[in-house]
Amino acid sequence: MESKLSVNIDWPETVEAPGAPGDKLAAVQEDLESGSVPGSAFLGWLDWADRIDEELLERVESVAAEIREHADVFVLAGIGGSYLGARAVIEALGDPGEAPEIRYAGNQLSGPHHERLLEDIEGRSTYVNVVSKSGTTTETALAFRLLRHHLENRYSEEECARRIIATTDAKEGALVEAAEEAGYRRFVIPDDVGGRFSVLTPVGLLPIAVAGIDVRSLLEGARRMSKRVRDQFESPATRYAHARNYLYEKGMTHELFGSFYPELSYVGKWWQQLFGESEGKEGEGLYPDTVEFTTDLHSMGQYIQQGPRQLFETMPVIDERSSRPEIPYEPNNLDGMNYLSGQPIETVNREALEGTVEAHVDGGVPVIKIGIPRLNADYLGRLLYFFMYSCALSALKLGVNPFNQPGVEAYKTNMFRRLDHPDY
Ligand code: PA5
Repeated sequence: MESKLSVNIDWPETVEAPGAPGDKLAAVQEDLESGSVPGSAFLGWLDWADRIDEELLERVESVAAEIREHADVFVLAGIGGSYLGARAVIEALGDPGEAPEIRYAGNQLSGPHHERLLEDIEGRSTYVNVVSKSGTTTETALAFRLLRHHLENRYSEEECARRIIATTDAKEGALVEAAEEAGYRRFVIPDDVGGRFSVLTPVGLLPIAVAGIDVRSLLEGARRMSKRVRDQFESPATRYAHARNYLYEKGMTHELFGSFYPELSYVGKWWQQLFGESEGKEGEGLYPDTVEFTTDLHSMGQYIQQGPRQLFETMPVIDERSSRPEIPYEPNNLDGMNYLSGQPIETVNREALEGTVEAHVDGGVPVIKIGIPRLNADYLGRLLYFFMYSCALSALKLGVNPFNQPGVEAYKTNMFRRLDHPDY
């Protein structure tokens, strides 16, 4: 039988386990499926993996193959939903020795970062994928301006048009105009898919394919999960949404994505944006944060074990892991580690995970374990879809619109005013 992604929760004695997900969540799911929800214009991600065009997929693969053949460096310029999903998949599954070097830009405004990036790509065959739905996001626009000038100083107009790929809105926005004027190749971000739900559209697919990852398997995984969570009420997505809503109502307002796998670091950041930006509004929402174990057991472990009891953890647990390297034997055993010799280091990681779950649960922290049979494109596709669907359910159950982010404008307005933007 095929192994499935699973959700299992370890409840501390101090927190009563909830009953099964009830009518209210079922009604929310019905509304989501019938499209009668706030933000209903942005539900295109629900069946995107089912309806993606073969022609589009082939184009993504062919542009990616060209980039893989000709680029030393591929720079992905985007922020938030316009880059985190791609980075999450690339860091989880990419083989850095295989693909062109992948660099990220447009996700912050640091001078030294940009200076270093421009120095590093000098003299190396460079392709740029600028990703922005609005085309006006300051971080992305400025990084793209720097990168474009850099390429224009090195390559002919025709060569720049070949090396710059714009992923943006179908019709509107500054990037559409720039692409039309300069002749850049374009991929379209579907109108009905918002940034943080866009990883399976060309926003994520092109960079992921450039990294040599099988985008068809990723989509297949998403399709499998979509079938599993959309066709019935009892599913890992309702289980997860129900548990976190229940814990939130109990005053456990902080959710930690605690991963024992460094390669899932950006899955954590993607998850954090997905839930944070979808739920945190109108005075509501769990505060999502990430911790990396075992590293953070030596920093945040103390707080998690004995600090205020307002938190719970969501923890990926991957079953199949590499059996290499094994811990070597040393005759003098100065560090006392010989009792582990001959064992894969990953065995220690797994026992650290189990020991941590036990300790945190004893300390009053509920742990939601997301079981993943193995880390590959198929299961990652399932995981991403699972989180997106759970997030939509969860936010709708809280009574907020999961698909907008009105609060993001506040810092921009102040920044523009301080910079004497003509319109502010
Ligand atoms: O999830 C979202 O919608 C946001 O994170 C956006 O993706 C992010 O702000 C970038 O926006 P844009 O693609 O318009 O540059």
